[in-house]
Amino acid sequence: MLAGLREISAIGRDPSTGGYRRYAWSAADLALREWFGGAATQRGIAWHADGIGNLWAWWGDELGPGAVVTGSHLDSVPDGGAFDGPLGVVSAFCAVDELRARGVTPARPLGVVAFVEEEGARFGVACVGSRLLTGSLDPDRALGLTDADGVSLAEAMRSAGADPAEVRPDPALLARIATYVELHIEQGRGLVEHGAPVGLGTGIWPHGRWRYRFTGEANHAGTTRLGDRCDPMLTYAHTVLSARKRARLAGGVATFGRVLVRPNGSNAIASAIDGWLDARAPDQPSLGHLVAEIERAAFERGRRDRVEVGISVESQTPAVEFDAGLRQRLGSVLGGVPALPTGAGHDAGVLAGHVPTAMLFVRNPTGISHSPAEHAEDADCVAGVLALVDVLADLLAR
Ligand code: GLV
Ligand code: MN
Ligand code: MN
Repeated sequence: MLAGLREISAIGRDPSTGGYRRYAWSAADLALREWFGGAATQRGIAWHADGIGNLWAWWGDELGPGAVVTGSHLDSVPDGGAFDGPLGVVSAFCAVDELRARGVTPARPLGVVAFVEEEGARFGVACVGSRLLTGSLDPDRALGLTDADGVSLAEAMRSAGADPAEVRPDPALLARIATYVELHIEQGRGLVEHGAPVGLGTGIWPHGRWRYRFTGEANHAGTTRLGDRCDPMLTYAHTVLSARKRARLAGGVATFGRVLVRPNGSNAIASAIDGWLDARAPDQPSLGHLVAEIERAAFERGRRDRVEVGISVESQTPAVEFDAGLRQRLGSVLGGVPALPTGAGHDAGVLAGHVPTAMLFVRNPTGISHSPAEHAEDADCVAGVLALVDVLADLLAR
């Protein structure tokens, strides 16, 4: 196992599931931030957290133009795996070591970054750190987002010793970044099928999250006649099944993976249900159609059940096509590795709208991700680091 992954292996790990619960600004996140600082300091490179909470370590002058930045995120989904995010940050530090061992003297600054709240597991919106940095998420909206306990992002930052008043876009920093490269575990079996340890990302499917609220009427499970019920569970269940069918027809995916039932009693008809729809498709028209069809099914069924349906958008990310010139350059440095798209969201997708961006994927033998079973073999992680080193050496030389 890469040493960095071993160093953080106990942080935020739930012993009963073996999965990670590393939510933004939680105690686990603070421990990971401390680890990041230590990793930079050990290497004699300066680091700091920006006003948003993204962590930056700079080899070379951070104010210099034409910087190359690499990294990923350290937060996780509930019961996440060890690799989604941390592999990219750990590999970035390993790459610094290897570049130095090879005697590379960078002609440009190299930044290692860990973006805050990439998964949106705590505050609902994905890629908060990179969206705030690039100005694609309004600071007031972000700071007002709340977690499951009603704690706002602003309050969480304050409790962790950060100042929410410092949250703002940083166009000057973005303008100094010439290239962003994110290494990530693959979240599918594309590389297994190609028989290759490392691949290059071509793009990201458009995707988004919608919060559905089904409001019915609480009542007794034993005494309320079926015809008298306004049961939001029925509308919710029907919507879940429609989402699955519509996704199949659209060639996309649709998931209700998070649900909140009120009052959550086994002998009471629910009063309200919140369900979060995550929907993705190969292109924008297919995604738009898919989301509209699921919406239509929910409203139609709601009318039958006498359940009110409310839908709000939590985040939306358009289709991303990684920079073609950069892809070609990386492809020739790496000697023809497989190129593949992904349905997973990444900070690289957000950055891609602002700076030439590329992604490297590391083989995942089962394809499982967002689960404690997520895995990458040591040899493939090393192959990923070496690919990143080759790419960075090329980008830093000119
Ligand atoms: C992030 O991993 C996402 O695709 O939701
Ligand atoms: Mn993820
Ligand atoms: Mn990730």
